[in-house]
Amino acid sequence: MLHWPEGLDVERFLYEYWQKKPVFLPRAIPSFDSPLDPDEVAGLACEPGIESRIVMENSDPPWTLENGPFEPERFGRLPQTGWSLLVQDVDKHVPESNRVRAGFRFLPDWRFDDLMVSFAPPGGSVGPHVDAYDVFLVQGLGRRRWHVDPSPRSRRRIPGTPLDLLADFQAVHEWVAEPGDVLYLPPGAAHHGVALDHCITWSVGFRSPLAADVIAALADTATARAVRYADSDMVPEEAADGLIHDRAVARFRRWLEDAVLHESGCLRETLGCLLTEPKSWLHPPAPEAPVREPGLRDHLDAGGGLSKHPMSLMARSRRERGWTLFANGRALAVDPSLESVAAALCAESAWPAERVSDWLGRPGGSALILDLLADGTLELV
Ligand code: SIN
Ligand code: CO
Repeated sequence: MLHWPEGLDVERFLYEYWQKKPVFLPRAIPSFDSPLDPDEVAGLACEPGIESRIVMENSDPPWTLENGPFEPERFGRLPQTGWSLLVQDVDKHVPESNRVRAGFRFLPDWRFDDLMVSFAPPGGSVGPHVDAYDVFLVQGLGRRRWHVDPSPRSRRRIPGTPLDLLADFQAVHEWVAEPGDVLYLPPGAAHHGVALDHCITWSVGFRSPLAADVIAALADTATARAVRYADSDMVPEEAADGLIHDRAVARFRRWLEDAVLHESGCLRETLGCLLTEPKSWLHPPAPEAPVREPGLRDHLDAGGGLSKHPMSLMARSRRERGWTLFANGRALAVDPSLESVAAALCAESAWPAERVSDWLGRPGGSALILDLLADGTLELV
């Protein structure tokens, strides 16, 4: 849990600040100990398959962007000041870093996108910009001075750089973040954070899907369900020349909402699949040889347990009878007796042999676990 300042708690934060305005939370994570140090951040940026970038402030061109992976020698050639190294999706690559997220579980898990880490020498920054997402910036090491404008009037960009940086940025707030301090920024708040020391900052980033993505995903589910428009309540006036009558439009709306989205379960299933779909380069790989039931039982008898692959995304939602468990973009119907299993699979990351043996004894339990082992969502440990 976060240590809220006097007068603030989760309820008040959601009501007053979430998606609305920035707030600085000094000492929100007391004795915060950054899970990575600067050398480890640089090490991650050298690994293929990990998204990283160096943003550098120059005079001409004004700002440059280099994408990783980097050669280790690149770091020896960087100047003393004026740059930032950023690494994305650290939660999936270094599972231990997930403890940075612990204080933010008051928000739904499915809203979380990724944990980013940045390192900068004194004077380094990524320039003034706005992000499309909510973010909590947790200061990990050294100090960073934040300048923030909650609602910038000008969106004019600095020309001559591939980065989306604000030309007319003017600070309304100034905060200096020290280790354990947290700055919350809603989407659209302009910000510029300049390192005052050698500085590590963790960004706990949230996502909100685009309507276009939800609609595209709905189209896929709707194709499978093939629910067809019906108008048994038609009245004669609807047949005026060429007219698409208001009653027909209203009926379409009701039909989309009631029959297509709700009754057919389209919306629930689409959301579950969409919100647990990993980025294509962050998909847990399926095991080379499938695990079968006797092999699984032998593994458990020998004291081995199960763990969730660090890239696995899981969620659950009620159905009429039982639950649907979503795993990496797939929907799996789950027997009501597996309700606590579905919850444990979503909430925890490893389970000992005795616990898994108990799950296998429930209706549909072993089929569910074998299915999740087959696609790499779960692994034997
Ligand atoms: C940083 O950590 O340097 C940048 C984070 C941000 O401004 O979103
Ligand atoms: Co930002």
